Amino acid sequence: MKKLSARTNRLSPSMTLAISAKFKTLVREGKDAINFSVGEPDFDTPRHICEAAIEAINCGFTRYTTASGIPELKEAICNKLKEDNGLDYTPKNIIVGTGAKQPLFNAFLSLCEDGDEVIVPTPYWVSYSEMVKVTDATPVYVVCQEENDFKMDLHDLKQAITPRTKAIIFSSPVNPTGAIYTADEMKVIAELAVEHDFYVIADEIYEKLIYDGEHVSIASFGAEIKKRTVVVNGMSKAYAMTGWRMGYAAAPTEIIAAMNKLQGHSTSNPTSFVQKAAVASLTGPKDSIESMRQQFEKRRNFMVKTINDIPGLSCRKPGGAFYVMMNIKALFGREINGVVIEDSLSFATELLEKTFVAVVPGSAFGAEGYVRLSYANSMENIAEGLRRIADFVK
Ligand SMILES: Cc1ncc(COP(=O)(O)O)c(C=O)c1O
Repeated sequence: MKKLSARTNRLSPSMTLAISAKFKTLVREGKDAINFSVGEPDFDTPRHICEAAIEAINCGFTRYTTASGIPELKEAICNKLKEDNGLDYTPKNIIVGTGAKQPLFNAFLSLCEDGDEVIVPTPYWVSYSEMVKVTDATPVYVVCQEENDFKMDLHDLKQAITPRTKAIIFSSPVNPTGAIYTADEMKVIAELAVEHDFYVIADEIYEKLIYDGEHVSIASFGAEIKKRTVVVNGMSKAYAMTGWRMGYAAAPTEIIAAMNKLQGHSTSNPTSFVQKAAVASLTGPKDSIESMRQQFEKRRNFMVKTINDIPGLSCRKPGGAFYVMMNIKALFGREINGVVIEDSLSFATELLEKTFVAVVPGSAFGAEGYVRLSYANSMENIAEGLRRIADFVK
């Protein structure tokens, strides 16, 4: 038998999905398991969005659409980008995709190739480094220290830039740390991108889930940076629409045209009636976003305080998204329930097996010494899960 491609061999399987599968097995076995590994809001999609999809199906809106998305949705996206982010785009600058993941993937594939370097701030969202590897480019990791609120140090960023730097993947708020960059910090990153002429793939998927500070799009710092930026966003997190698979990108027309070619030969259009639902999400009432944000904020405050009260564990207060990076370094080398905790994977594995609490090892995000906890869970589950963690490390 001939070998599989080197491309897929280079990729790591998603550790978050592996944990999730283990968690589901425990639930099937009837265990009272608590999942802190999820990356999706635990709220229902707002009713008016569901109704728009149902109406579209009832009206027979079930055929192929233009691969890049229906005009009505592109218009709604342009209006959103103008109103929320002060960005001027026309529908020609927009591509609608299957979740934010697909536009991200197509942006990397359109911009990067063998010989290129892509700067990946670390801890990173699990898929960024793998997406870069698919393009045959090389990820260049810039470690964001906890002491610096998990944000890039400018000096480290400058050190990472070379003539081969093709792009940086930039997000704020960041998954997994919840870090938020200020407008001033972003401006400097934008200036570096312009000065050294590299692209910015700006993942703004957590834009609406901010508790401290405010969202600014890096593309908004002038024409030169906008020319080099692909803004990616989607409905998964802001509208609790993870399963619908709906996202989009905005960029200069030549980048969108390249992404469109890839999409046209792979998935074609995102689901027709989901596009109608997406129009409803962008043009309809937004009160559900604010109420979800407020609930997340309460849970964040509770989780952060509780973790910092547990001896041996600590965490920073994340400014956005719905994750906490819990520092477990003080436990390394210690024996818990007969097992020596050596790294984040052994901690997460033991915790899951002994207490049925699922967390994601920091190594999945390139950050050993931490585990990620999601607070997209009920207050009761958060309290109970943290109680079990406290017992486990006692
Ligand atoms: C940082 C980040 N970007 C993008 C995505 C992809 O989102 P979507 O569900 O829209 O594909 C996720 C999902 O977890 C994420 O955390």
